[in-house]
Amino acid sequence: MKKILFTIILLVLSIQLNAAPVSYSETHESKASDMKEMADGMGLIMNGLLYNYLDNVNMGVKKIQGGVKRIQSHDLKQYLPADTAYAHKFGEKSLRRIMEYSKDVEESMKAKDYEAAFDSSTLLMRQCNSCHSRVRGW
Ligand code: HEC
Repeated sequence: MKKILFTIILLVLSIQLNAAPVSYSETHESKASDMKEMADGMGLIMNGLLYNYLDNVNMGVKKIQGGVKRIQSHDLKQYLPADTAYAHKFGEKSLRRIMEYSKDVEESMKAKDYEAAFDSSTLLMRQCNSCHSRVRGW
């Protein structure tokens, strides 16, 4: 009986967590801090591989994954500046690719293939830039 009750509570909780993305009503600062967290993560990965501080690489991956998940929990149309909201599909793809490459980095680190980790992190960073160049009209 307890088990059933517990399952029901879990179900209700997970339904609430999976509710449709809320409108992105947060301030510019919170968007900037998602981005800053990802930039910190990118720095940790790059410095980790350049200086051979390998633990930093995994910390950086976690920061990037956390940032991506937070951005993905909002409606990207409202996250992007209004004049570039039309590029949300493109942006969503960049975010998905960032997630995939971050997993590749993790796997290469586990396999101690640091060159592959470096290559995947370069590809990851290109995805940051591809969304930025759309948004910024570069
Ligand atoms: C879905 C699109 C998108 C992706 C992908 C993306 N960004 Fe951003 N980023 C933005 C937007 C929108 C802004 C705010 C507008 C601007 O700065 O031009 C921004 C701004 C920034 C800024 C400046 C923040 C500030 O304080 O002004 C940094 C740093 C940054 N992003 C880092 C990253 C990193 C690192 C990644 C990849 C891991 C990344 N971004 C991926 C959309 C994106």
